[in-house]
Amino acid sequence: MSIESKPPVGTDLRAEIDRLRRDRNAVILAHYYQKPELQDLADYVGDSLELSRKAAETDAEVIAFCGVKFMAETAKILSPDKIVVLPDMDAGCSLEDSCPPEQFRAFREAHPDHIALTYINCSTEVKALSDVIVTSSSAETILSQIPPEQKIIFGPDRHLGGYLNRKFGREMLLWPGVCIVHEAFSERELLKLKAQHPGAPVAAHPECPPHIVEHADLVGSTSAILQYARTFTGDTLIVATEPHIIHQMEKALPEKRFIGAPGADGNCNCNICPYMALNTLEKLYTALRDLQPRIEIEEGLRLRARRSLDRMLEMASGTIGMGDLGRV
Ligand code: 13P
Ligand code: SF4
Repeated sequence: MSIESKPPVGTDLRAEIDRLRRDRNAVILAHYYQKPELQDLADYVGDSLELSRKAAETDAEVIAFCGVKFMAETAKILSPDKIVVLPDMDAGCSLEDSCPPEQFRAFREAHPDHIALTYINCSTEVKALSDVIVTSSSAETILSQIPPEQKIIFGPDRHLGGYLNRKFGREMLLWPGVCIVHEAFSERELLKLKAQHPGAPVAAHPECPPHIVEHADLVGSTSAILQYARTFTGDTLIVATEPHIIHQMEKALPEKRFIGAPGADGNCNCNICPYMALNTLEKLYTALRDLQPRIEIEEGLRLRARRSLDRMLEMASGTIGMGDLGRV
């Protein structure tokens, strides 16, 4: 951020963001992995599927996306007439980085009898090369609609793909990408934590590796984990996903205790997503003030990517988003 673009010293950022949101006719969307102050300012907080649906439906003229770049690009693909701003354009994703479009194209060409079922955590180019997009909350609903004999490439998250293969008895070919955040949980430290809290269930995101997922009582998307937090019996829940989601749990369920699963050093700070963390109140303010950094996508590419996203929205239509907890 250049010095000139910084807000004047003493600016009440929350009040200014509110004023700009009204003046710009903007909606602020935030993912559960964002800092609590961004979640609390947002019009909607949700998982990847819920936020895609909100972006597709909104009447606002501007979408300010507190999330990562592939999420803001998804909003632009679905709502091309809106201005979509991302507070920090460097807010990427290790899964997206693991799947360069040219390599993905070559992988597809090497398997012409396979369809490409692709996790939404990827670039617009990879979406354009895919047949159907899934999120973690829609993947099971969508996969169960694809005939068992159909050969499938699944990318870029090999842990989500592996989890689906095991659960559904499929043999999807997996792209070897991982989320650096979920990869960092330590089985040894998790077992120690479970021993310290006997009986406390574990809720894990399917981006976690199998040695974490196998200890989980619930494996699901961020919204499914939030729903489980509402309904589990007991007073303590161990949460194996990005720890900022615990903000929503503590707001909705102050009488319960939520503990982030640890990384290898026994401290869950290594599980904070460094990309999501780039977004700040100050950058949200300047994004709304300047309507920059703005997502722009070449129209031909957008239309190709839109097909696979539209298929997701159609095939996921029965999926319950479970987003009420995040509605502010
Ligand atoms: P969901 O919110 O769809 O579960 O996705 C998690 C994630 O990794 C977002 O980057
Ligand atoms: Fe990507 Fe993982 Fe961060 Fe989600 S948590 S944005 S998958 S790096």
